[in-house]
Amino acid sequence: MEKVFITRKIPESGIELLKAKFEVDVWDGELPPPRAELLRRVKGCGGLLTMLSDKIDSEVFAAAGASLKVVTNYAVGYDNIDLAASAKLGLRVGNTPGVLTETTADLAFALLMSVARRIVEGNQYVQDNRWKTWGPELLRGYDLSGKTLGIVGFGRIGQAMAKRGLGFNMPVLFYSPTAPKDVYPELNATKADLDRVLREADFLSLHCPLNDRSRKLINAEALAKMKDTAILVNTARGPVVDSKALFDALSSGKLAGAGLDVTDPEPILADDPLLKLSNVVITPHIGSASYETRAKMSEMSAENIIAGIEGKPLPFEVKLP
Ligand code: NAP
Ligand code: GLV
Ligand code: GLV
Repeated sequence: MEKVFITRKIPESGIELLKAKFEVDVWDGELPPPRAELLRRVKGCGGLLTMLSDKIDSEVFAAAGASLKVVTNYAVGYDNIDLAASAKLGLRVGNTPGVLTETTADLAFALLMSVARRIVEGNQYVQDNRWKTWGPELLRGYDLSGKTLGIVGFGRIGQAMAKRGLGFNMPVLFYSPTAPKDVYPELNATKADLDRVLREADFLSLHCPLNDRSRKLINAEALAKMKDTAILVNTARGPVVDSKALFDALSSGKLAGAGLDVTDPEPILADDPLLKLSNVVITPHIGSASYETRAKMSEMSAENIIAGIEGKPLPFEVKLP
């Protein structure tokens, strides 16, 4: 019987599909398997169901050996997987696109609103028993209506974010170099170069994958171009933003606030200065974390593993270089 290793406990529905066909080994630690354990457990597997927190590279493939046919990430992003090494070995690589689009855009918009209207600060204020009276100037934030929503990466989640912006009367300017159209009238969205998006956005939301072009795209130089009143939202990947430059911009008043679901490093360190800023809201990479979506991701991942081991194209396959 073919063996499958799942690097964390995922919702049961996908595990059940796999157990019906294969010998399934699930790492049930709260933390990811330590490297040595990962390398040991993948040995002899036909399929690996991996998390974005696992680095999947030629060392892992060598440890798995010739039996390995398919690796599928329990995520849409796959920057943790070495695609060149996968291609060289003729492996198939899968992910979970589409199913988490609305869920992730919901979180991005929730972060945007939380920072703009100071929800977390307000909650803390009440918890701290500082709420003595209604205040004319208490916890003022920023309006959304009529403001420009800048979007970097106008793919599935970027467009879902634009749709939310539309409902809040926010025109969209997006930077996404290979987008097929310059204007999306139904989303009130217009393509622009990065410079213009940075300069004109009142809210800038990142939705590109992490790749060589997007790493540290939002650096000190980019942040300097933004409005002092702008708010940055990152639900893409931590390294798309230069963390040090972000701290400097937020702490010097060069940027009004940030909502981050992803950080660099990830998890953020306990003594990271970003944690001290009241104009920052950070969630622990929970973009796709709804009951419904995480269950569907489990089933999609199982379908990918089954197809891969059976030598068929994956239903959700990543194109290899
Ligand atoms: P997608 O449909 O592939 O959209 C990504 C878009 O970004 C594509 O249009 C792509 O254009 C564009 N892009 C690529 N490189 C870029 C760059 N350097 N600058 C600007 N745009 C660029 O992917 P998706 O499903 O929307 O997911 C996007 C990303 O969100 C994922 O890769 C993942 O990292 C992140 N994510 C995070 C969470 C979370 O929990 N926080 C959840 C889901 C996804 P091309 O077609 O030309 O490449
Ligand atoms: C989550 O970050 C994903 O890429 O699905
Ligand atoms: C505030 O509560 C108002 O009535 O304006």
